[in-house]
Amino acid sequence: MKKPEIPFFKPTIEQEEIDEVVETLKSGWIGQGPKCEKFEEEFRSYIGSKYAISLNSCTAGLQLSLMALGIGRGDEVITTSLTFCSTVNAIVHTGASPVLSDIDPAALNLDPEKIEEKITKRTKAIIPVHLYGCPADMKKIMSIAEKYHLYVIEDAAHAIETIYQNQKIGTIGDAAVFSFYASKNISTGEGGMITTNHQKIAEKVKILRLHGLDKDAWKRYKTGEYKHYECVLPGFKFNMTDIQASLGIRQLKKIEQWRCMRKEIVKIYNDLLNDLEEVTSIVKAGRDNPEDKVQAYHLYPIMVKNPQDRDKLLTYLQEEGIGVGVHFKPVHQHPYYAKIFKNKSYPTAENAGSRLLSLPLFPTLRKEEAERVVESVRAFFKRTSKNTRLISSHPYPRPTL
Ligand SMILES: Cc1ncc(COP(=O)(O)O)c(C=O)c1O
Repeated sequence: MKKPEIPFFKPTIEQEEIDEVVETLKSGWIGQGPKCEKFEEEFRSYIGSKYAISLNSCTAGLQLSLMALGIGRGDEVITTSLTFCSTVNAIVHTGASPVLSDIDPAALNLDPEKIEEKITKRTKAIIPVHLYGCPADMKKIMSIAEKYHLYVIEDAAHAIETIYQNQKIGTIGDAAVFSFYASKNISTGEGGMITTNHQKIAEKVKILRLHGLDKDAWKRYKTGEYKHYECVLPGFKFNMTDIQASLGIRQLKKIEQWRCMRKEIVKIYNDLLNDLEEVTSIVKAGRDNPEDKVQAYHLYPIMVKNPQDRDKLLTYLQEEGIGVGVHFKPVHQHPYYAKIFKNKSYPTAENAGSRLLSLPLFPTLRKEEAERVVESVRAFFKRTSKNTRLISSHPYPRPTL
């Protein structure tokens, strides 16, 4: 398969990111150090949380948030099946059992009406995922959590810029975790951040992210004099580096501008696909209304009416030189989880998972490119309907064998 002419995603790396990385490379300190501290402080201030702790991925952050809350073997954590497998992997890595709950058919986030029936004596937490950058119904989720004394950890991998009812995502649950993976709204190549208002979670995560040490290397060396460290927990190697943070510092300054650029693309897709009855747009560009919601516009998924067309359209677009994605195949349909959830069904997630297809979306995608993507989607359905008509109107009956 040739390299797509219109890629599914392209990170925006400008001269200032390059300069910041070069400065770090020449500084003599490239591990976790002053740039991580700066990025944490700027991210914390952008989100409006009390604490922000940088990590090497969102997945690591989900695991450490759960562990910092004491969740592990014997506990259950409820989340959605329509997510990236890492949300569920993180639960499994703590020793706890993931419990999946179905989604609401419109936004495709956790359906709050279905959560309560999943709660048992072992349930400790809920992980809502703000899919595609659209906030989950946090009001209902937080009230369920309060009623049953559960923790809420938000998987905010797609939702750095998202606002829900005047509250920034990252300030609502007990902790929220963001991703700076290569295709995310801002990127550090690989990277993640936990935000929380709880000092205890922040302190525990800081220890867990770096081998369980009571002091990180920068704290020990920045004054110039050696300080002894102690391992107080069997921690992990989940820290960010200053090279990664250099990208984050520069990208964070442009996050809102890039969100607006993606929103313009979303508008173009919405307008041009509006009358095509074979597909439905999941993400709609609405007014940025913080009292209701502000969306992050991370992905642009469409729902194909006929599930049999989804993979055919996917192949066709690739042949046309257009990059595509699927967000997501439901977790319980992946081989490892299919065994664990073998007698369970999540019909809304299954239906969505068989029909979703994401179109290219990134800030520098040009209007003409978005138009070409839609032209190709239309051309596919024109061809398909012609074929269907040809078959159904064929004058000669199929010979019997
Ligand atoms: C919904 C969701 N959660 C978690 C993750 C994991 O992020 P990371 O790759 O930073 O670990 C992703 C990554 O794509 C994601 O889409």
